[in-house]
Amino acid sequence: MDNNRVLVTGGMGYIGSHTVVELQEAGYEVLIVDNLSNSEASVKYGIEAITGKKVEFEQVDCCDYDALDKVFERFAPQSVIHFAASKAVGESVQQPLMYYRNNLNSLVNILTAMRKHGTENIVFSSSCTVYGQAEKLPVTEQTPRREATSPYGNTKHICEDILRDSVVAYGDFKVIALRYFNPIGAHPSALIGELPRGVPNNLIPFVTQTAAGIREQLSVFGDDYNTPDGSCIRDYINVVDLAKAHIAALGRMRQGKMKDSFEVFNVGTGNGVSTLEIVKTFEKVNGLKLNYRIVGRRAGDIEAVWADPSYANNELGWKAEATLEDTLRSAWNWQKHLNNK
Ligand code: NAD
Ligand code: WQD
Repeated sequence: MDNNRVLVTGGMGYIGSHTVVELQEAGYEVLIVDNLSNSEASVKYGIEAITGKKVEFEQVDCCDYDALDKVFERFAPQSVIHFAASKAVGESVQQPLMYYRNNLNSLVNILTAMRKHGTENIVFSSSCTVYGQAEKLPVTEQTPRREATSPYGNTKHICEDILRDSVVAYGDFKVIALRYFNPIGAHPSALIGELPRGVPNNLIPFVTQTAAGIREQLSVFGDDYNTPDGSCIRDYINVVDLAKAHIAALGRMRQGKMKDSFEVFNVGTGNGVSTLEIVKTFEKVNGLKLNYRIVGRRAGDIEAVWADPSYANNELGWKAEATLEDTLRSAWNWQKHLNNK
């Protein structure tokens, strides 16, 4: 099938919405399917305000095969970007069956519909969680995957395996799994961003909500790790840069540049940044004081992980460009936008 139509599952979510903006700006025709389990219908208007183009959206659950089948019948996409999944690590420990059901069934349904309707390309949202605590840093795509420490993490392992097996069995499939590091920040327009539900688990929404007075105090989980300042290290990637990696991946597939029908890329900056560095930089660039204190380690946290992104840089022709300063400014601007809503 040769067209420029892209079906974006989970496209109303945090990373999906930023990717839809980049897709529209690159001239792709996009249809979003999302069940709005972790997003809002109003996200569509944010995207439209940025791109000036109409967003096509259908409220569909990817676990509902018949509904998906109709979407493929009507839209006949050449490519799929599959973001739709449940993603809260702690919740997945409490509700493993919900996580396996949602994340695995969604992918199996998408692949089944792709086979039936002749759609060949899929970009999949994987995660650096598949590396766990690597022995050697930074991690490359050859770094061995480690046994998952949560049902959520395990769904990423299993989904990667489902995709690898499908490529072997069904000759025409082309798959790129992007292993995201820690996506943060928001679109510079502050019209779309992350919409955490309840108390945020992730660092940046907790930081911005603390700065906004919604949370009283940020807990920094541990300062006794074997790192320069004792706090954990991550590779924080600007969400717009991450969105652009999807455009690069699609281009690679469509131009027949893949070296293998199943490819994996690390999508990170290559810079390891500590939790305390995040706090200090956020304070500095936004002219704020954050109320925080050091507390004990969070169960299950890994000490340090950051990407070696050179394979993605060289092969995808993509590179993270935003500075941490700009990204943390964008995160605060988005929080201010939410405060004014
Ligand atoms: P998000 O929750 O903001 O977006 C996911 C979207 O998928 C939401 O809009 C949700 O309503 C939708 N969705 C969930 N289940 C669905 C279903 N069955 N049918 C239709 N829609 C469904 O999350 P995000 O941060 O944008 O993450 C997108 C993808 O990237 C996920 O697969 C996630 O696991 C992966 N990922 C995220 C991170 C991160 O830190 N945010 C890191 C690595 C990988
Ligand atoms: C970042 C750092 C915390 C909150 C998770 C998933 C991973 C991937 C990305 C999807 C850690 C510290 C946090 C707080 C803190 N998601 N922290 N106080 O744990 O690296 O990764 O999101 O695939 O799978 O596990 O991200 O944002 O929760 O934490 O000190 O209130 O901030 O200890 O070092 P994490 P995070």
